[in-house]
Amino acid sequence: MDVSATKRRLLKVIFLGDSGVGKTSLMNRYVYKKFNLQYKATIGADFMTKELQIDDQLVTLQVWDTAGQERFQSLGAAFYRGADCCVFVYDVNAVKSFESLTSWHEEFLKQAGPADPKAFPFLLLGNKIDVDNGHNRAVSEKRARQWCDSRGSMPYFETSAKEDYNVNEAFLCIAKAAL
Ligand code: GTP
Repeated sequence: MDVSATKRRLLKVIFLGDSGVGKTSLMNRYVYKKFNLQYKATIGADFMTKELQIDDQLVTLQVWDTAGQERFQSLGAAFYRGADCCVFVYDVNAVKSFESLTSWHEEFLKQAGPADPKAFPFLLLGNKIDVDNGHNRAVSEKRARQWCDSRGSMPYFETSAKEDYNVNEAFLCIAKAAL
């Protein structure tokens, strides 16, 4: 491959969602191929990077993990500005985390102020699909897809950071959406 002809892009991706839905776990699974059942709250915001190749583009994904806990949420507009993609995460077993999505979406639009909110690349991930093999989930896939459809054609993935289900697929879609 002719490296000089390869275009390099740094893409800023922000993860938002309630505390405990699995934002950090999804990133750890994708970037480090690791999973930890022990919960450790994210304080403030932190990022992880991962390089990947998409066609002739070398992409560095800079994935920002934010704290879901309200007492750590004072990120401000500077943090949201310059985002190339915003990923919402909820837990399919926790209806409250799904109901919070609308306010996360509004918060992003308010803080980041994208020029065309309808054209901005958002994604939704319904995580922890492994629990009870998805039999006792609190939010149906249909309901989640309706939420996405009412906000443009937002891609939706059901994932398990624990079982490594759909995680690579979701991140590839994230990278392509951010490009
Ligand atoms: P904050 O940092 O508070 O915003 O939380 P978070 O959204 O980053 O959640 P985190 O990744 O810390 O995960 C919370 C808990 O859920 C941890 O105990 C994880 O082990 C667990 N968890 C995360 N993803 C999954 C999953 O796919 N399946 C199951 N069963 N548990 C998960």
